Amino acid sequence: STALILVGGFGTRLRPLTLSRPKPLVEFANKPMLLHQIEALVKAGVRRVILAVSYRAEQMEQQLTVEADKLGVELLFSLESEPLGTAGPLALARSLLLTPSNEPFFVLNSDIICDFPFTEMIAFHKAHGGEGTIAVTKVEEPSKYGVVVYDGLSGRIKSFIEKPQEFVSNKINAGMYILSPKVLDRIELKPTSIEKEVFPHMAADGALFAMELPGFWMDVGQPRDFLTGLSLYLGSVRQSNPDSLYNGPGVVGNVLVDPSARIGQNCRIGPNVAIGPDVIVEDGVCIKRSVILKGATVRSHSWLEGCIIGWRSVVGRWVRMENNTVLGEDVIVKDELYINGGQIGFPNAGKSSLLQSVTRA
Ligand code: GDD
Ligand code: MG
Repeated sequence: STALILVGGFGTRLRPLTLSRPKPLVEFANKPMLLHQIEALVKAGVRRVILAVSYRAEQMEQQLTVEADKLGVELLFSLESEPLGTAGPLALARSLLLTPSNEPFFVLNSDIICDFPFTEMIAFHKAHGGEGTIAVTKVEEPSKYGVVVYDGLSGRIKSFIEKPQEFVSNKINAGMYILSPKVLDRIELKPTSIEKEVFPHMAADGALFAMELPGFWMDVGQPRDFLTGLSLYLGSVRQSNPDSLYNGPGVVGNVLVDPSARIGQNCRIGPNVAIGPDVIVEDGVCIKRSVILKGATVRSHSWLEGCIIGWRSVVGRWVRMENNTVLGEDVIVKDELYINGGQIGFPNAGKSSLLQSVTRA
């Protein structure tokens, strides 16, 4: 079967990381975000993945084609010349989504992480026989999401309201759908929001059903949520595959370390840390709730909490950084600096840059 992943959008909320690469290629738990989804789709029997892309297609094509080949999945790119929103891309890819067997297809937002219950979704969709299935989850702050009101027994959705001003329900659209080809008749080839212009009508027709997600869920499109998502993900790995977590001196809680990374003496790493390939962590470093991306260096006696350190960046000695600080690619933080929150990176990412200022709370 087929899946379409919506990978447009500029990822502005994850800058400066998204200055050097598209959001779906940023590593989450040492793997490009998109690969978590593609791997799970393949497990559920999907053999063809369409990436609906509105910018930076070449970069994605280069990096992902190799991985897709390894997984034995066909990867197709559907390129928009102007951003078509969350529904328009389905009209654009119409001929790829329509198959002789009239099979339903998956549609996914690219910035979400969870245990991806795709097999369960297929069974649920078959059982209710409607036009669409939406995975839903419970959140504390529903106003940032698409809110779904549905019948607890049948799952039939009564109303779908994107980013409501007033509280309606705390059950929200988790950004994963199964749609029957019939839905394509509801979508025109023009910039269209599936959440505002398609789902409300399907709900009114009684054709849309909600499946409650088991386990954790997070939209990881911004730094704080990215780090929260990592904690939840590592917690889930602790249950399902504890041997893949790192065990070593000074490790606290759930920690992922690439085998090519080097960790010095007397460090305290964790909880909820992911350390990527070729990373160097020198002696006496403390890292909590953070992500260190490929090739970065953290020099001795530095202290990081709630940070994302970009590719090949260097954090000097005795540095203290916290509170959702994000370094882009190739940033150098001088010794003894204190950085409390903020994004540090450069539009011409790739060239080394020196950070010379001190940021205070
Ligand atoms: N191809 C393409 N073209 N993709 C797009 C475009 C576009 O013009 N615009 C957005 N996308 C992609 C984004 O890359 C993302 O994967 C997905 O569509 C959703 O866009 P976001 O910008 O991340 O939306 P959101 O997070 O505010 O809200 C959406 O996700 C929530 C769950 O995380 C909605 O679907 C909500 O209803 C939902 O609750
Ligand atoms: Mg999002």
